[in-house]
Amino acid sequence: MSTQAIGIFDSGVGGTSIWKEIHELLPNESTIYLADSLHAPYGQKKKERILELSIKNTELLIKKDCKLIVVACNTATTNAISYLRHNYNVPFIGIEPAIKPAALKTKTKAIGILATKGTLSSELFHNTSELFAENIEIHEQVGKGLVELIESGKKDSSEMTDLLKTYCLPILEKNIDYLVLGCTHYPYLIPQLKKILPKTVTIIDSGEAVARQTKAVLERHDLLNLLARSKKKEVRNISHLFYSNKEVNILQDIIGKQFKAEFLKF
Ligand code: DGL
Repeated sequence: MSTQAIGIFDSGVGGTSIWKEIHELLPNESTIYLADSLHAPYGQKKKERILELSIKNTELLIKKDCKLIVVACNTATTNAISYLRHNYNVPFIGIEPAIKPAALKTKTKAIGILATKGTLSSELFHNTSELFAENIEIHEQVGKGLVELIESGKKDSSEMTDLLKTYCLPILEKNIDYLVLGCTHYPYLIPQLKKILPKTVTIIDSGEAVARQTKAVLERHDLLNLLARSKKKEVRNISHLFYSNKEVNILQDIIGKQFKAEFLKF
C-alpha cells in the first residue's frame, strides 16, 4: 500500500477532465496535477518535441514522489508513452481515443473522431483505427484551435461555437452515430457540442475508462492508499496539488473553488 500521490499531466488544463474521473472513483488518493499550459497546444508540435515535454513533466512528477503517472493527454500518450514506459520505473496510464467502444456500438457503421493533429497522425492511433476500419468508416477531424480557445478561457465563446460547427458539419454528412472525443480538453465542449449535434449522435470520451484502469493498476501493484480509508482525519491526510506554468486563473476556474491552483515554473 502507498500514501504517495498519483501524478497526472497534460499539455494544459484539459487533463482535469481525467483528474475529475479519477478523483470520483478513487477519493482516497492524493493527486498532483501538472498543466503544461506554457507549451500548449502539443497537438501541432513534432513528435520529438512532444516527447521532450512529456519527459520533463514525468521527471517533475517522479521528483515529487508520485507512485503512478497518468498521461492525461491523448497527444502525449500516442507519441511518448512507450518511451516513458521503457525508461522510468513507475507504472504509466495513458489515454487513447475511444474508437473501440464506438466501433462496437455504431449502427450506421460510421463514426467521427475529433482529435489533435498530433494524435491523428501518430502511429499508435493509426494502428488502433486500422484494427476497426475494416468494418466501419472512421471520419477523422482535426480540432485545430480548440485547445487554444479552452486554454485562454474561451470554452463557451461564440468563436468556439463557430469553430465546432465548422468541424462537426462535414462529419455529420457522413451519417455518423458516434462522435469520439480524442483530446482530454474536449469533454469541456460537450454542452456546446450537444447544441450542434442531432440527438442521434452519441458523444464518447475515455475519461471513465482511464479512471478504471488507474484503479486496476494501483490494485495490481499494491499501491492503493489504504490508510486514507481510516476515519481519523490526521491519518487520512489526502492532498490535491494543481500546478500551472502559465495563467493559474484558467486552471483555477476549471477545477473549481474547493481546490487551489498554484503557479509553478517548469
Ligand atoms: N489534452 C491534450 C490531448 O488530449 C491536448 C493536446 C494539445 O495540447 O494539443 O491531446
